[in-house]
Amino acid sequence: MTIHIGAKPGQIADTVLMPGDPYRARWAAQTFLDNAELVNEVRGMLGYTGTWRGHRVTVQGSGMGMPSLSIYANELIRDYGAKTLIRIGSCGGMQPQVKIRDIIIAMTASTLSTPSRGIFRELNFAPAADWGLLRAAVTACEARGIAPHVGGIYSSDVFYDERPDLNDQMVRHGILGVEMEAAELYTLAARHGARALAVLTVSDHLGTGEALPSEDREKSFGDMVEIALEAAFA
Ligand code: HPA
Repeated sequence: MTIHIGAKPGQIADTVLMPGDPYRARWAAQTFLDNAELVNEVRGMLGYTGTWRGHRVTVQGSGMGMPSLSIYANELIRDYGAKTLIRIGSCGGMQPQVKIRDIIIAMTASTLSTPSRGIFRELNFAPAADWGLLRAAVTACEARGIAPHVGGIYSSDVFYDERPDLNDQMVRHGILGVEMEAAELYTLAARHGARALAVLTVSDHLGTGEALPSEDREKSFGDMVEIALEAAFA
């Protein structure tokens, strides 16, 4: 047990999928894993461990935003020895070619700041995905006829942004989408020698104002879970 995760030693798999929403963690575990067992419910941040095609997998909610994800990712890696962490989540599309329901695979994650900022001081560290996971996720997309967008995303600290000019600069610099967690996940994985990736479904678009109807979210989310699992065990 750690401060925020109630799992016993050995109850967390080496491979962890991390949706922001704990109910999505429950849905993904119950839908895609065999013998899914609840291993964490501290603060309602549900985590399940089961198997997928014989491989042990944990699905653990991260909560929203980098400070929350940082707590879970730190404990998963440092205390439970997790080796592969894949964020599965939603993001806001930023480029015109990025459409609602599209999948973005985040090669890098730009930020204004992360919880790791204190370490780097004046350095602008470049949080990047694990190349092997990224390549495997692209292959998994292509195998199911999905053409993902692969490139940089923006991990913001705010959903309700009072600085739209920052989004404008991200759009201008080719950033595909905005979410709130990946940069810290990539930074922690780099620091502790783990592998990390973020596979994201576009749930809304900052340019057009469109949003994914709630009944469509499940199917798009399902593709993302399977892509993440196939990438983890490629
Ligand atoms: N902004 C930040 N995070 C998000 C968004 C957004 O528009 N959509 C989904 N996650």
